[in-house]
Amino acid sequence: MGTLQAQDLSRVYPSGEGQVTALALFTHTFAPGLTAVVGPSGSGKSTLLNLLAGFDKPTTGRVLVGGTDLHALPEAARADFRLAHYGFVFQNHNLIPILTALENVEFPLTLAGVPARERRERARALLDQVGLSGRASHLPAQLSGGEAQRVALARALANNPDVLLADEPTGNLDTRTGGRVLELLTAPAREGRTVVLITHDRDVAALADHTLRVRDGVVTAETTGVQV
Ligand SMILES: Nc1ncnc2c1ncn2[C@@H]1O[C@H](COP(=O)(O)OP(=O)(O)O)[C@@H](O)[C@H]1O
Ligand SMILES: [Mg+2]
Repeated sequence: MGTLQAQDLSRVYPSGEGQVTALALFTHTFAPGLTAVVGPSGSGKSTLLNLLAGFDKPTTGRVLVGGTDLHALPEAARADFRLAHYGFVFQNHNLIPILTALENVEFPLTLAGVPARERRERARALLDQVGLSGRASHLPAQLSGGEAQRVALARALANNPDVLLADEPTGNLDTRTGGRVLELLTAPAREGRTVVLITHDRDVAALADHTLRVRDGVVTAETTGVQV
């Protein structure tokens, strides 16, 4: 599928009588592996993620996913493209409360038209990968925060995404539980997926192949290799 490229991405929000530039001319090629985007609260990290995801339209610039201009796609085609190529993990697990853990993981496979038996097998394998085969029939409310987030990760991986975007996935978890979730995020990166991990936690960057530091909507530093 190739790479995820951001070219001259900006996002300007109206604010009172003025404007806020949440992101200014951001250009970067996200290579396969784990890229951490770190920066203080309000620095534009979620804005960037929402643009990379195609949830929000940039004021300037474009997002290329393996050569496809994401924002040039009509709405419905963009949704299909997202389903086929992206996985998401958010700060809140966003699991569907009336579906079991297994059914939540199956859900994107249902949307993609995968037949029932294959769907079930794949969802079971994914739950196993995140260490939760024993929780398959639990509802989200019956899971701990860390477990729910691991189910969310299994769901994000269901359609074999080329790009995995995570916005503060450990923001609501204690350090140890969060550490387990982060470890699980490194596995898809090692498999050659492009994983973008947004975080305000500097320690998280220690796991990354590449780190971008943002402040006030601009990249202030880029580092390659594992940080200490
Ligand atoms: N929908 C919005 N409308 C107006 N301003 C926004 C909106 N979303 C974000 N902002 C502003 O853009 C800046 C960056 O926000 P955000 O991307 O959420 O930062 P981060 O995720 O790094 O905490 C902040 O100043 C924030 O107040
Ligand atoms: Mg944010």
